[in-house]
Amino acid sequence: MSVSASNTAARDRTSLVQVALGARSYDIVIGHGLVDELGARIAALRPGAKAFIVTDDNVARYALDQAEAALANAGIAANRAIVPPGEASKSFGVFEQVCEAIIAARIERGDLVVALGGGVIGDLAGFAAAVVRRGLDYVQVPTTLLAQVDSSVGGKTAIDSARGKNLVGAFHQPILVLADTALLDTLPEREFRSGYAEVAKYGLLGDAAFFAWLEANWRDIFSGAGAAGSRARAEAVAVCCRAKAAIVARDERETGDRALLNLGHTFGHALEAACGFSDRLLHGEAIAIGMALAFEFSARRQGLVSKAEAARASRHLAAVGLPTRIGDIAGPPPSVDQLIELIAQDKKVRRGMLTFILVRGIGAAFVETGVDEREVRAFLSEKLAER
Ligand SMILES: NC(=O)c1ccc[n+]([C@@H]2O[C@H](COP(=O)([O-])OP(=O)(O)OC[C@H]3O[C@@H](n4cnc5c(N)ncnc54)[C@H](O)[C@@H]3O)[C@@H](O)[C@H]2O)c1
Ligand SMILES: [Zn+2]
Repeated sequence: MSVSASNTAARDRTSLVQVALGARSYDIVIGHGLVDELGARIAALRPGAKAFIVTDDNVARYALDQAEAALANAGIAANRAIVPPGEASKSFGVFEQVCEAIIAARIERGDLVVALGGGVIGDLAGFAAAVVRRGLDYVQVPTTLLAQVDSSVGGKTAIDSARGKNLVGAFHQPILVLADTALLDTLPEREFRSGYAEVAKYGLLGDAAFFAWLEANWRDIFSGAGAAGSRARAEAVAVCCRAKAAIVARDERETGDRALLNLGHTFGHALEAACGFSDRLLHGEAIAIGMALAFEFSARRQGLVSKAEAARASRHLAAVGLPTRIGDIAGPPPSVDQLIELIAQDKKVRRGMLTFILVRGIGAAFVETGVDEREVRAFLSEKLAER
């Protein structure tokens, strides 16, 4: 097969997922090489609009020229802001610079912000779009696996406060999400694997058949090579986006169901915080441990799920190279007191009762609001003793 023929074949495998939110509905388009269509798709949605791209130094190196060329080919005038990579860019300082740059470029109501990057850029650019001129439309072009399956969909945008992550933000839905799976080829393997924890999460929380498919196909998803790899990646992203879109359509502002997406995140956030949100433990790595713990905790607690099923969940996460035990984290372990303190801070506590996402099985998560803090303490003491 010639290169152009295989590219065409890949392009024909574009999937479309709709996020159904009435007047704020939008499409998530998933496929290989989609950045080339950015300009044409924007022109079709907002004829005559100007664009302002927000990206980071790493993504600029790999994808900015392609994105700018796609906009130019469709006759769209574009300016840009390039910020340093990393969570530190979700700060008031960088946020101010991005807002000022958008205003200086005379982006007005009717024009567009384009978030070209991972979750950091999506959150930063999305929040700028939410507030500059009291709200501009924006397009998400997620470039990490985490952003393609999670952060670019659902309209949560935020920057960080000195007191905690994502404490200053807004709900602001994009008008289009363009998930180009070819962009994932340059993603460092550790970042890809960390994003994969969120992929597995969708299977573990609500889709046992998808989890079984992941157990059989994760190698293709990781390699991304050839037709099988490209198809498996696009399929995995599409299944996750469909699941998230359905949950968001039911519960846009997280008053109910949307909380299920936090499977593994209560334990996970506490571990991330205990590691100072550093390279010691990436978000997805923390969530992998958190999900394994949520399964074990559920198994221990009134035998909600069998030990064998809990072991199967951990086994898959470990097979792809994700950590699944607190002892897998390098360096000195956190103390039980520290973890309990962090969990209590993170979650609403009512009369000593904590809220957790627990499971009845693979693909069967539910919200449990009455978890006794003492029970969590006893469980974590056991887990820390296992090291
Ligand atoms: N809004 C939401 O619903 C939501 C959900 C989950 C997470 N988040 C947020 O997402 C952020 C994490 O996102 P992330 O994991 O994508 O991190 P990130 O945006 O920092 O990207 C990770 C690293 O990969 C680099 N990178 C991105 N795309 C690349 C590519 N194609 N090739 C090579 N390198 C590339 C980045 O420069 C960065 O160094 C956190 O701030 C988190 O709070 C938001
Ligand atoms: Zn997460």
